Amino acid sequence: METVHLGLIGGGTVGGGVIRALRRNGSLMASRLGVALSIRRVAVRSLKKSRDLGLPKGVLTDDWRSVVEDPEVQIVVELAGGTTTARDMVLTALRLGKPVVTANKALLSAHGPELFRTAAKHGTNLYYEASVAGGIPIIKVLRESLVGNRVISLAGIVNGTCNYILTRMKLEGIEFLEVLAEAQRLGYAEAEPSLDVDGHDAAHKTGILASLAHGFWVDPKSIHTEGIRQISRLDIQFAAQLGYTIKLLGVIKTVPGPATTTRKKTSAGEGGTRIQVAVYPALVPNAHVLASVNHAFNAISVRGDIVGDTLFYGRGAGADATASSVLSDLADAALDLKHGSVDRVPCFVAHSSDSRVVPMEEVVSRYYLRLEVVDQPGVFARISTLLAKAGIGISSIIQPEGHVGETVPVILMIHDAPNASIQKALRLISRLRVVRAEPVLIRVETFE
Ligand code: NAP
Ligand code: HSE
Repeated sequence: METVHLGLIGGGTVGGGVIRALRRNGSLMASRLGVALSIRRVAVRSLKKSRDLGLPKGVLTDDWRSVVEDPEVQIVVELAGGTTTARDMVLTALRLGKPVVTANKALLSAHGPELFRTAAKHGTNLYYEASVAGGIPIIKVLRESLVGNRVISLAGIVNGTCNYILTRMKLEGIEFLEVLAEAQRLGYAEAEPSLDVDGHDAAHKTGILASLAHGFWVDPKSIHTEGIRQISRLDIQFAAQLGYTIKLLGVIKTVPGPATTTRKKTSAGEGGTRIQVAVYPALVPNAHVLASVNHAFNAISVRGDIVGDTLFYGRGAGADATASSVLSDLADAALDLKHGSVDRVPCFVAHSSDSRVVPMEEVVSRYYLRLEVVDQPGVFARISTLLAKAGIGISSIIQPEGHVGETVPVILMIHDAPNASIQKALRLISRLRVVRAEPVLIRVETFE
């Protein structure tokens, strides 16, 4: 049987997971693929670290270039992370005509078009199934399985760390920072956890999904991004009383209206699409399946114009789940090498240059608004007057009972309103003397 030799860069959480998974299921894969995968070299940053990878002597090195440039290495697997040296690693391999497998969504987000161009120029391919939603094969779904659909909407829980934190905050009433430390210990969180909790990691992934779903490369700067630091236990509890669960969502939706004033036709013969691409915490109705996706699990619901609603669920982070997606890419890369078919599924196809991302100010949402107000007559009237002047309707007002003290929380559920209008109204409301703390505004997703 033919053997394909791999060069890994990274022997940490994911790299270690891949090495163990290949040891466990390598023979099974070989019998399914008709090609054996063999690890030839593994680069790490420090050879002094003790690690239990069970590799033969001489496989481990601290010189990544020697791995990429080893003439025996046919596929390079970048599992180091970061966007600077990792860019260098991937570009070096692609320029040598070697296929690259990566789990690095930050790298793709920052340099995707350059990497795709380089792969095409050098007659090779870049595989990145593990970059979004850990073990869920969502890249293959969007690129291949749903190729006959227009994607109407996609909503996903794509950051395992945030979902783990929000789940434990809800189920156990634990404080944010305490749970974050646990997520780091379990290997879910990025080396720099602000990537997770401030929504950037979810934005990297949502941008990749939006680009694949809509056929143009979504500039990361156009993705409205909010994290979960401002979510308090109080809001999680109030949301629960109202029948909702707070989740950090990546949201991609087509928005009605022309993408350009000229309605140019694309190569596919169609005018472009306006899409919303954003990451934010949202109240999800408990009846919706995403509300019960807990801990480090991810789930992505995709609505296609032909298929209707679909749902993809699985572990979104951690060594084994992510290794599973890396193995899937290794299988594709090995088969492409065997059959000389690097173009069968190109890493990215831009086919909708006339489409664009709609600025968040234009996006219409429903909202949960929590205000901390002085408990005196006339307060509701003043707040609702300011909202009415901005053309914003209130669907319900709740003043939870049992709060004592000078101020009380008031929850307003707000009808559909453009982001710009609600922000303007909030600036006026927060200036009222009866409003005593920064208002908390969280979107409500209805999935209609
Ligand atoms: P990690 O545990 O920090 O491992 C990184 C590995 O890369 C370490 O072995 C490190 O060496 C090595 N490395 C870093 N810089 C290097 C360099 N210049 N030369 C050679 N080796 C270098 O990170 P991870 O969690 O495995 O994440 C790896 C990638 O997978 C990231 O892009 C991440 O975003 C992505 N990812 C992670 C998960 C997850 O659940 N953890 C899931 C999906 C995707 P040392 O061991 O010597 O430090
Ligand atoms: N830090 C990421 C997460 C790892 O928590 O989802 C998986 O991409």
